[in-house]
Amino acid sequence: MYHILSCDQFARDDLERIFKLTDDIRTNPERFTTSLQGKLVATVFYEPSTRTRLSFEAAVLRLGGKIISTENAKEMSSVIKGESLFDTIRVIGGYCDAIVLRHPERQSAADAASVARVPIINAGSGSGEHPTQALLDVYTVYKYKKTLDGLSIAVMGDLLFGRTVHSLVKLLALYKDVTIYGLSRDVLALPEEYVVYLEERGVRYIPCRSFEELPYDLDVLYHTRTQTERFHTDLQVEEFIIDPEVMKRFSDRTILLHPLPRRHEISPAVDTDSRAAYFAQSHNGMYVRMSLLHSIIGTSF
Ligand code: NCD
Repeated sequence: MYHILSCDQFARDDLERIFKLTDDIRTNPERFTTSLQGKLVATVFYEPSTRTRLSFEAAVLRLGGKIISTENAKEMSSVIKGESLFDTIRVIGGYCDAIVLRHPERQSAADAASVARVPIINAGSGSGEHPTQALLDVYTVYKYKKTLDGLSIAVMGDLLFGRTVHSLVKLLALYKDVTIYGLSRDVLALPEEYVVYLEERGVRYIPCRSFEELPYDLDVLYHTRTQTERFHTDLQVEEFIIDPEVMKRFSDRTILLHPLPRRHEISPAVDTDSRAAYFAQSHNGMYVRMSLLHSIIGTSF
């Protein structure tokens, strides 16, 4: 693994290796404290972030590396002077050992990789993909369910602009006998390219428009925020809200995930439900990112 650009690049074996290493890092963190010694990682974010940037930075620091960061690259970098992403990446690549990039263009990660002299890690490319989020999502499911084969998973909310969903469905397609339900309003349905991707890999994809269409014994419910910042018009979309009443529709084995940040689509009253796994999920993110950084630029031992 050199760059992490899209979930297209992963095979099932890669995920197994990443999860095994993540477990190892969690159990034996002291063995990894010098993995990134002498390494400098740049976090370059052109869009807002809390979890992704800070969990990457925490991961670098916990592995003994150092960080340079531009948290608001859109306003605080030379972009404002008209510099292209290509030039910015060429320059930053000369200062560091890896670049973690979040950018509003779908092509950004691939564009950056085409000129970078160091590994690029895609931390969100517009409404395209968010591969490291999907890796931590699948890792979380694996921790709760022990396997991904044979699971039923509902992705819901904004399937049109939700890049975490786009990456997640690609990873789910690596497993056997997975059923994916896509619960959304019509206007926020999963784009055709992902439906075709799933079809080509023999994954059952069932578009839904109401909670009634989801099975009681669903394994995973994965809700997402409506990405209003990506709307080109002032489209009003009625959101699906998950509250304790809605949770009664599902079995005690149905875990609830969300990449966060949430707004009102999951009521805080659900947080104490033992099936609510979204805070554990975001905590897992740091370990998965440690595992990725260790694999890409770490010292092997
Ligand atoms: C997501 C993102 O940036 O796509 N956040 C995250 O990285 N955990 C989801 C979102 O912003 O809604």
